[in-house]
Amino acid sequence: MSKSQYVSNCTADSLRDAAAKLLAGNLVAFPTETVYGLGADACNADAVARIYAVKGRPADHPLIVHVSSMHRLGDWAEEIPEYAIKLARDFWPGPMTLVLKRSELARDFITGGQETVGVRVPDHVVARGLLEAFENLGGKGIAAPSANRFGQVSPTTAAAVVDEIGEYLDSSDQIIDGGGCAVGVESTIVDCTNDAPRILRPGAITAAMIETCTGIQVGKIADSPSLGVVNNSSEMISVDLIRVSGSLENHYAPAAKVLLCEIPTEGQGFIALASIETPPGVIRLASPRNDEEFAQILYSALRQADIQGLAEVVVTQPIGIGIAVAIRDRLRRATNGR
Ligand code: TXA
Ligand code: MG
Repeated sequence: MSKSQYVSNCTADSLRDAAAKLLAGNLVAFPTETVYGLGADACNADAVARIYAVKGRPADHPLIVHVSSMHRLGDWAEEIPEYAIKLARDFWPGPMTLVLKRSELARDFITGGQETVGVRVPDHVVARGLLEAFENLGGKGIAAPSANRFGQVSPTTAAAVVDEIGEYLDSSDQIIDGGGCAVGVESTIVDCTNDAPRILRPGAITAAMIETCTGIQVGKIADSPSLGVVNNSSEMISVDLIRVSGSLENHYAPAAKVLLCEIPTEGQGFIALASIETPPGVIRLASPRNDEEFAQILYSALRQADIQGLAEVVVTQPIGIGIAVAIRDRLRRATNGR
């Protein structure tokens, strides 16, 4: 894919053109506030099949359907519990995906054959403009996984999308350049199919925020030896390893080996909060000032390790209980390599 296929001037016309491409069965990669997504018409089986081909992703992994507003939730989901409505009202548009019982519209090629569907209203001016244009043309929703090859680091810039999947796209596909992503890690996935919400993947919307919003304690998932981290409500990860690809033990991995809990030595890359000094000879890749900034730069810093051809990158994890939980979740999986 050449640079000319980016749309940098995200005017109403260019977003309408991109929406028309989607409806015609093409793929459009677009920015969201979390990471860039690789979009296809969520009602078009052939277009969705191309997402899997471009990503190199196993076909039984479900996709998140993106819509422009919570009023569209009823198109895709049924039997929506009151607490899910509260979550949607408080956190949409935003970095949260709700997993609900699917409607007839959510076919097996979206849900991976499951009876549930993941739905999200993203909070990015370009994503929302694209979704509105798509819905104005009669579209129902845009299926979009992160726009990376399966198991690799999610892209947070348009240039990273080109590096990841550009060579697999056709000339009729498109990449929309909407700048860097503000959040930087993927949405919190909340399972809303039981009496209490459960976090399947941590993100910027934390367990504490969900509990405050719903007044319900976030449900516990049975311990699983392979997961390691299931011990308190803010650290919960899905045990459903096959169906939630983001919960696979090796994911989000750069080519460089990621090391945690180590003092970096000469020639290694290093990512840590700005308050932590760089030892001599160590290649500092990022110095975020707080946990939010850490999440925002994490994936581009891991990419930078690969661009610089580093064999190893040491990351000092943030210890907080907000978005730091999501950062530690992704880093733990990244340590398992590709
Ligand atoms: O922030 C995000 O969520 C980004 C942006 C583009 O919206 N999207 C994203 O999609 O991270 P993806 O496909 O890379 O990760 C979505 C995760 C996958 O692990 C998938 O298995 C899980 O969501 N998922 C989707 N539908 C599900 C469902 N019905 N039940 C359980 N997990 C589901
Ligand atoms: Mg992904």
